Amino acid sequence: MAQHKIAVIVGSLRKESFNRKMAMALIKLSPDSLTFEIVEIGGLALYNQDLDENPPAAWVEFRERIRKFDGVLFVTPEYNRSVPGVLKNAIDVGSRPYGKSVWDGKPGAVISVSPGAIGGFGANHHLRQSMVFLNVPVMQQPEAYIGNAANLFDEKGNLTSDSTREHAAKFMRVFATWVETNTPGGRQ
Ligand SMILES: Cc1cc2nc3c(=O)[nH]c(=O)nc-3n(C[C@H](O)[C@H](O)[C@H](O)COP(=O)(O)O)c2cc1C
Repeated sequence: MAQHKIAVIVGSLRKESFNRKMAMALIKLSPDSLTFEIVEIGGLALYNQDLDENPPAAWVEFRERIRKFDGVLFVTPEYNRSVPGVLKNAIDVGSRPYGKSVWDGKPGAVISVSPGAIGGFGANHHLRQSMVFLNVPVMQQPEAYIGNAANLFDEKGNLTSDSTREHAAKFMRVFATWVETNTPGGRQ
């Protein structure tokens, strides 16, 4: 399999974020064909269309950076049954100016993590809804709604549950194939 560079976007700014821990665990469990960088989104000013003609430096840097990746992995909590504002803002910033979206055609995957029982299902699917509009081919299966997050990690951030670790490893194996087959020019 060819090498592919993946942007990891974590939908939480919290220092002890379960989603960030999950992102790190996923990176460790991934096949070698994928390399990863976490792209931070906390410094992006709120999207305002008035600024499109003279955009903040952080927006320009974010857009240029995301463009260079072959795929994107979203790891997100659920806020009020939807996507946290900070993540939606990053998606909006990357999607503009009109016609120049950095997301267009980039293969993606979504994983949601919550201390609650339903694993951020609402956020996961609201995010998928935006990705349909943005023409991001999002991996359909396996889905990953990770609940009970408060009990999933040891003090070093390792996954403590064998079944979650196996599911996460499978998720990343399938994602590697998904990126390979959905990379422009990579389709047979
Ligand atoms: C504003 C807000 C809204 C939340 N809404 C939900 C929710 O709808 N569903 C859910 O499962 N958890 C909800 N939570 C709890 C988060 O899942 C929890 O804070 C989680 O730890 C956030 O992810 P993180 O650990 O990666 O920061 C909410 C938390 C906040 C701060």
